[in-house]
Amino acid sequence: MNIQFDETNLLAEMVGKAHGVTRAEVERAQSKAQKALASFRKQSEAGLFGFPHLPFQSKVIRAIGRYAAEVRGSYDTVCVVGIGGSALGAWALDCGIRGPHPIQGAFTTEHPRLVILDNVDPDFTAAALRSMDPQKTLVVVIAKSGGTAETVATFLIVREWLQQALGATAGRIVAVTTEGKGDLYELARTERYQIFGIPENVGGRFSVLTPVGLVPAALIGIDIAKLCRGAARITADCWQPDLAKNIALRAALYHWLIWTRKDKPIQVAFPYSNHLWGTAFWFRQLWAESLGKAQNRKGETVHTGQTPVAALGSTDQHSQVQLYIEGPNDKVFTFWAVKRFHSTGQIPDAHIGLAAFDSLAGQSLAKLIDAERRATAAAMVECGRPNCTVTLDRVDEEHLGAFLQMMEFQTAFMGELLNINAFNQEGVELGKKLTFGLMGRSGYEPYRAEFAAYEKKRAAAR
Ligand code: PA5
Repeated sequence: MNIQFDETNLLAEMVGKAHGVTRAEVERAQSKAQKALASFRKQSEAGLFGFPHLPFQSKVIRAIGRYAAEVRGSYDTVCVVGIGGSALGAWALDCGIRGPHPIQGAFTTEHPRLVILDNVDPDFTAAALRSMDPQKTLVVVIAKSGGTAETVATFLIVREWLQQALGATAGRIVAVTTEGKGDLYELARTERYQIFGIPENVGGRFSVLTPVGLVPAALIGIDIAKLCRGAARITADCWQPDLAKNIALRAALYHWLIWTRKDKPIQVAFPYSNHLWGTAFWFRQLWAESLGKAQNRKGETVHTGQTPVAALGSTDQHSQVQLYIEGPNDKVFTFWAVKRFHSTGQIPDAHIGLAAFDSLAGQSLAKLIDAERRATAAAMVECGRPNCTVTLDRVDEEHLGAFLQMMEFQTAFMGELLNINAFNQEGVELGKKLTFGLMGRSGYEPYRAEFAAYEKKRAAAR
């Protein structure tokens, strides 16, 4: 397993002092990185934040594996009902290991497909239900809180769909939620669903290696032991004080310097691999929700945050790169490169006497996508646009597990460098409460009143 972080194109020598960091700036910030590491380690060891320990929970990993082995063969579709941190991890894993839709192989009971219902768009939900056979669908409902409106509403629809077709839901529903707490847990117990718990000290966006991500992954045939093995291996590196060995800490430090000292409020995650496209969306949530905060730990108003953008290489070179190279210099770019693809994409050695064709004949798509990325990085440097590259040897279970875990560490370290709590999400909670108020849930009357005040203000402004 090999993941590397190359920060060279973030240096002032490459992109100029206005947009790149000097070695002296990096040197001066070293002690901050060490403090960030020590502070996060202390909190993690005190049990406040659980994600670093997840790859080592072999009992949970084995229990999920056993369950998946028991039910295998009885379904050709796994339908996840969940949203945000309760959906994006499963998508990143499915897309990473089995490939992006629509190029995944034919769906069978040996190769079940994953359908994620993570929006309450009624047309999308209806079409998804039409596309699944209730006799051959295993439903996984995921909510840490056990009461998120979108998940609950969609689940009621899916549950009824199953009941109408099968007469009962026994054995067809798995619930992943906080054990002993919340309405989903209550329902799951009453209706005797298979239940897997989410540790209290792991928030949604950090939960891909809990049953939130591992249950759907195991059910669609991903080797979750390998995923966790990769994550465990990088975890050891992520606790190293030596920046040369700890790529998560080094990446956090460079990104912090570029963002806060060189004024780059936007980060573009730029995978040159369709298999990593789901991971880019997972990362968007991780970075946005963890670092977008009104207050720092001292209670000062800071309104900090770096806007994450997902772009796909080389596709988005023909869509976004004009802006990236000539538009405002307010972004830092992180290329995600893959050294070895599963196939090479050999281009036929057919010389037809036309330069555009003949120059590529006999080469490969793997070489071309690599050239496209390196050329874009070089063009960015020429135009003073700071960028860096994370390289995965390949996209397999071990590398993906390690990459996800590395990004969680990087985010946690960034939270420490900014002196914010990267693990809460008050902004998300407010929207959830206002929705409950609007939908008439009892106990949420004050939020209904808050919304009425907002509507009054709108009416006056019109
Ligand atoms: O990261 C988070 O905490 C959120 O994005 C949650 O994952 C999301 O709101 C879904 O919450 P729940 O799992 O309680 O339904």
